[in-house]
Amino acid sequence: MQRRNFINFFLGGSLLGTCIAFLYPVIRYILPAKQTEAVIKKITAAKVGELAPNTSKIFKFGSSPGILINTQDGELRAFSAICTHLTCSVIYESDTGTLLCPCHNGRFDLRGNVVSGPPPSPLESYIVEISGEEIVVSKRD
Ligand code: FES
Repeated sequence: MQRRNFINFFLGGSLLGTCIAFLYPVIRYILPAKQTEAVIKKITAAKVGELAPNTSKIFKFGSSPGILINTQDGELRAFSAICTHLTCSVIYESDTGTLLCPCHNGRFDLRGNVVSGPPPSPLESYIVEISGEEIVVSKRD
């Protein structure tokens, strides 16, 4: 009788372990753990002198791209590089001095305002400061 109980307990435990081993990855896939991203408010986008006039640079602002522009007049401006229409990445067009979203021809001026195309709202603009040898970009509150 004791041997039978032991075998039943052993087989039941094995079956339970096997079920957990199969179900755990399935449950983790269906309900992924929430990942909290650290909120980044300030970042070094470039070094002073890195950008020639009328050029741009894409930089990472946390997990999303930003774009730093040195205008023809030598002013530094920075925006989120994510189009407000359907989240494509915008690029700087030096010949027109505008930001272009190539997905649907959305166009923004150097203040981030929509000039043409389907984007419903302006690009998020960032504050640009020079700190020593670095160009620091920060989000507005
Ligand atoms: S995603 Fe930019 S214009 Fe459509």
